[in-house]
Amino acid sequence: MSKPKIIVTRHVYPEVLTYLARHFEVTDNQTDQVWDLNGWTTLLGQHDGALTMGIEPVNEQVLAACPQLRICANLSVGYNNFDVPAMTRHKVVATNAPDVLTETTADFGFGLLMATARRITEGENYIRRGEWNKWRLDFFCGAEVHGSTLGIIGMGRIGRAIARRAAHGFGMQVLYHNRSRLSAEHEAECKARYVSKAELLAQADHVVLVVPYSKEAHHTIGAAELALMKPTATLVNIARGGIVDDVALAKALQSGQIAAAGLDVFEGEPKVHPDLLQCSNIVLTPHIASSTRATRLGMAMVAANNLIAFFTEGKVLTPLNPEVLA
Ligand code: DGY
Repeated sequence: MSKPKIIVTRHVYPEVLTYLARHFEVTDNQTDQVWDLNGWTTLLGQHDGALTMGIEPVNEQVLAACPQLRICANLSVGYNNFDVPAMTRHKVVATNAPDVLTETTADFGFGLLMATARRITEGENYIRRGEWNKWRLDFFCGAEVHGSTLGIIGMGRIGRAIARRAAHGFGMQVLYHNRSRLSAEHEAECKARYVSKAELLAQADHVVLVVPYSKEAHHTIGAAELALMKPTATLVNIARGGIVDDVALAKALQSGQIAAAGLDVFEGEPKVHPDLLQCSNIVLTPHIASSTRATRLGMAMVAANNLIAFFTEGKVLTPLNPEVLA
């Protein structure tokens, strides 16, 4: 019997391809080419399944051209590249890769908060420009992290992992806002207090965004929200581009409405709005919060195992539309 055909949309570690090749006829993309929409749709239409990176659109238009397709397995936890209702209509299974990246992403989120609040990259750039000629008392004075108040918007697994680091490691008070309130057990575990978004923004010394992207979450932080924040506050976004209005943020940073921002994700990435690039009080990273080899390999393996389980047993480990399987 011929093996199902799957496509792996970008460069992955070779062991992932070796593993997949035991079960599938695999089209790889080890040159890491970025296809345009037509190229992507045409290729996807020639396969039964895809291991996607969380960035390739799988929407009504794409699905209509891919009648053979049965499953798309994202290696990311985020799945805003999927139109899940459309996938369900087309009986295409959707999966993501939760859990495996939680602690690594929380480490990074906390690191970005530290770098932003303590102005680490500003200091580095100053040295690199050759401007450092004497020590000064008020050199790159930043904001306290330990003992301060952290506000987390989006209190899923990653939000809770950041809260644990903050409360237990840095003695911070943790406020959170989420679509639904956590159980008392979860609140106690991360010593977090549920508040409204407005209260969080007004009280927090540092705000970290970990909310998944959806139309409703678009511009969760815009001009009105930035106006509620303290002028000494920092804002960290490790969620998704579009959660923050980047133009409004650049204005707030330039006018001193807030002190600093750390961004791992951007509206329209990999492009970064030029106004943000003009700000010195900002730390920028290229969507790498989950990027350690062990974690990225783990994420790819979750996606691979979803594909294998689907084609061998008719089930998956982390379904987004389980109704298709039923
Ligand atoms: C995720 O898993 O969603 C990360 O942002 C990597 O894309």
